Amino acid sequence: MKIIMLGAPGAGKGTQAKKIAAKYGIPHISTGDIFRANIKNGTELGKKAKTYMDQGLLVPDELVVDLVVDRVKQEDCKNGYVLDGFPRTIPQAEALDKALTDLGEKMDYAIDVDVPDENIVRRMSGRRACVGCGATYHLEYAPTKAEGICDVCGKELILRDDDKPETVTNRLNVYHEQTQPLIDYYTKAGILKTVDGTADIEDVFQAIVEILGA
Ligand code: AP5
Ligand code: MG
Repeated sequence: MKIIMLGAPGAGKGTQAKKIAAKYGIPHISTGDIFRANIKNGTELGKKAKTYMDQGLLVPDELVVDLVVDRVKQEDCKNGYVLDGFPRTIPQAEALDKALTDLGEKMDYAIDVDVPDENIVRRMSGRRACVGCGATYHLEYAPTKAEGICDVCGKELILRDDDKPETVTNRLNVYHEQTQPLIDYYTKAGILKTVDGTADIEDVFQAIVEILGA
């Protein structure tokens, strides 16, 4: 089962991708998480990516494509995977298709988590991420048991640098210009499924399970 999660920044791609990965026993591959781990570890890739991410811009395609193509060829991906935050541009989608064709494989679903812009800023300003394990929460919609402390590992929670309101506006503009065209791309490919991302986290997940099957 090979799945792509589409949707605006803050639509809930990461939240749903984690639940899909757990239910179906497939890896969750988030390019944003990979870049954030590289930034934390001070790698060359992390240094390059950070200059774009802090402005709410996309990291150039050439820094992303090989990374993902290499990742999906690994052993743990043989029964499928859920891609979160990739592809994000038409050239990325084309590169992914070509790599899969070369392997004799194809993508099964592109799930668009649909949330209007008005809801997005509230989602992101309330999001908190764990400095230790990267788990994400929301002050209002997905709170931790103890305030400011990760339920999973007990470390401190922070607001992501790119979740500041001025950067969120840029990320939304970039989404509409560069990523939204993928909805047409996957509609034409016949694999697009849309879910209403404004519903509760569990209800969105139920809608996805109905698409993927129990
Ligand atoms: P990335 O990390 O992918 O960020 P994004 O797409 O902007 O998406 P987010 O992670 O912000 O949102 P999400 O949809 O995962 O929402 P979440 O589940 O957390 O990318 C960051 C940056 O890296 C990019 O800007 C770019 O620079 C670079 N990058 C990454 N991939 C790239 C690529 N392929 N090419 C080029 N550059 C790339 O949910 C948000 C909040 O809402 C949470 O607090 C959550 O608890 C809450 N929530 C979720 N669902 C619900 C719900 N149903 N109801 C209420 N609250 C909810
Ligand atoms: Mg995410």
